[in-house]
Amino acid sequence: MPVLMSPPGNCQHQEVLDWVGRMKELCQPEAICWCDGSQEEYDRLCSQMVDAGTFIRLNPEKRPNSFLARSHPDDVARVEDRTFICSRFEKDAGPTNNWVDPKEMRERLKGLFTGCMKGRTMYVVPFSMGPIGSHIARIGVQVTDSPYVVVSMKIMTRMGSAVWDVLGKNGTFVPCVHSVGLPLSPGELDVPWPCNHKQKYIVHFPEDREIWSYGSGYGGNALLGKKCLALRIASVMGRDEGWLAEHMLILGVESPQGEKTYVAAAFPSACGKTNFAMMIPPKGFEGWKVFTVGDDIAWIKPGEDGALHAINPEAGFFGVAPGTSVESNSMAMESCSKNSIFTNVALTPDGDVWWEGMTENPPEKLIDWTGQEWTPGCGRKAAHPNSRFTSPASQCPTIDPAWEDPNGVPIKAFIFGGRASQNQPLVYQAFNWGHGVYLAATLGSEKTAAAAGKVGDFRRDPMAMLPFCGYHMAEYFDHWLTIGRKLPEPPRIFRVNWFAKDEAGQFMWPGYGQNMRVLKWIVERAQGHGYGVETPLGWMPRYRDLDWTGLDYSREQFNRLQTLDREAFKAQTVAHEQFFITLKDKLPLDFLMEKELLVSRLWRSPEKIAPPK
Ligand code: GTP
Ligand code: SPV
Ligand code: MN
Repeated sequence: MPVLMSPPGNCQHQEVLDWVGRMKELCQPEAICWCDGSQEEYDRLCSQMVDAGTFIRLNPEKRPNSFLARSHPDDVARVEDRTFICSRFEKDAGPTNNWVDPKEMRERLKGLFTGCMKGRTMYVVPFSMGPIGSHIARIGVQVTDSPYVVVSMKIMTRMGSAVWDVLGKNGTFVPCVHSVGLPLSPGELDVPWPCNHKQKYIVHFPEDREIWSYGSGYGGNALLGKKCLALRIASVMGRDEGWLAEHMLILGVESPQGEKTYVAAAFPSACGKTNFAMMIPPKGFEGWKVFTVGDDIAWIKPGEDGALHAINPEAGFFGVAPGTSVESNSMAMESCSKNSIFTNVALTPDGDVWWEGMTENPPEKLIDWTGQEWTPGCGRKAAHPNSRFTSPASQCPTIDPAWEDPNGVPIKAFIFGGRASQNQPLVYQAFNWGHGVYLAATLGSEKTAAAAGKVGDFRRDPMAMLPFCGYHMAEYFDHWLTIGRKLPEPPRIFRVNWFAKDEAGQFMWPGYGQNMRVLKWIVERAQGHGYGVETPLGWMPRYRDLDWTGLDYSREQFNRLQTLDREAFKAQTVAHEQFFITLKDKLPLDFLMEKELLVSRLWRSPEKIAPPK
């Protein structure tokens, strides 16, 4: 297959052709490659990256057709402080986003991108977020000077020639411009992981539906279909068109009687979406099955049948590696067993990968993610805490039969959860849609390695969307309220917390597969045949309302998780208020009422809030 230097015959879209021409003039690449998304192209780019030192080919016996990439230590995660929403007016980006006047930003970008691809190839990558041709799907075209990005996009999106057919002569696409920001002078040798150490910019123009990313080659900064298009730009499309773009996993639960229920769940980054999406029911749940539709992003649209239909706009998993093991998530392990790209994990002497938590005992010797020799006692981590595997979703053994259904799957419940070591129950259900939206909006989480700032710091992360909402957060709350009001039977909304800790700092809830017990209650409630009791916080299960078959977890242990300190909850409502003050200009009035109702319920409640024993 020859490298396509000129547009393929089926690209008949004049606007695309003109735009690529302009990008070529601006970025001044040495060559252009129109990507077709074929396996040949993927293999060729991977071999090329092996030769360039960007990729290490893993042992084909242990990890067929898989590669390890080590990024520069300055380029290991999303950069939230370098992420911008450049709406025409600052008030439309809202106080939780970085804003720069679009005119000024375009000037800055012009400076940055002029000649930024010198000495490199500019790849043109057509991709569909969502099954190609689905009415819920959207098309993007990314130009990039990173072959790592091209092969990653091949796994993470539906990438290639078929997209031109869907786009036709005048279909709508989101232009995505990406450069690692490291031009090469004639004869200059490239580095294994090019990026710009001085400047990084992840820029969105919501009104123009346009994305520009400069200086980083990593994950959500560079695979522009993911957070940039499928969340920040799509959230704006959703607002304007009446649907939702969410940082949610989607899963389907099948009961032994064959009743199938789909739920979507939002957890902030690195708080367990991938694990929950691929849950294996524990001992005692024989006959129950959990199917995976997606592990990170959901696009959710009201259908004519009155239900909310969700698709996973992605085609792959970009999953956190550390902590993933056969015990914690064997489906993820299976998904990354072949045809995968690993970034910033450790290399074993026999050419396989390793990360903290993969096996109980680490290998005796490794090459760590920075390329240095590593031994178990050396005091450093072998894999970066935000190291990731990039794997085709189709390789997940529990992938749902309907995961590529162009109409999506009907959502019966929304689950919101963060990382809270105290004062958040294991599970409770909102009284109604409005209360549920309030619970989602007041979600918070203790920071993990992926977020900037001190690990352990608490931050409010409404709907787990704080870094991903492309417009004013309070308007987004309003949009949620509006969506629910239009549904004849809105999905039920739940809050969960797997992360409560005891005085000794140990997790009090076993988590992982055991979360199935909570999921079963949620599904039953959503289907209208589960039992719960009213508390000041919401509906809660009693000990007897959860199925404990196969687990030795006592009534006392459970009650400890579900018993809350009234004063601590009062303090939380003050923290809600503090957060809402920053959004005052557009905050829905409903939230003031919800807060008042919550305060009133707390005011009248005993010191310890708990479901009846
Ligand atoms: P992004 O891909 O960054 O959006 O995040 P994600 O939500 O997909 O993160 P992921 O599933 O990779 O989160 C993994 C982290 O959550 C690891 O530290 C796991 O150990 C932890 N985790 C997942 N499920 C549980 C659980 O049930 N209990 C506890 N205690 N930890 C869990
Ligand atoms: C997240 O940080 O929520 C991710 C990883 O899913 S990234 O795509 O890099 O944003
Ligand atoms: Mn994510």
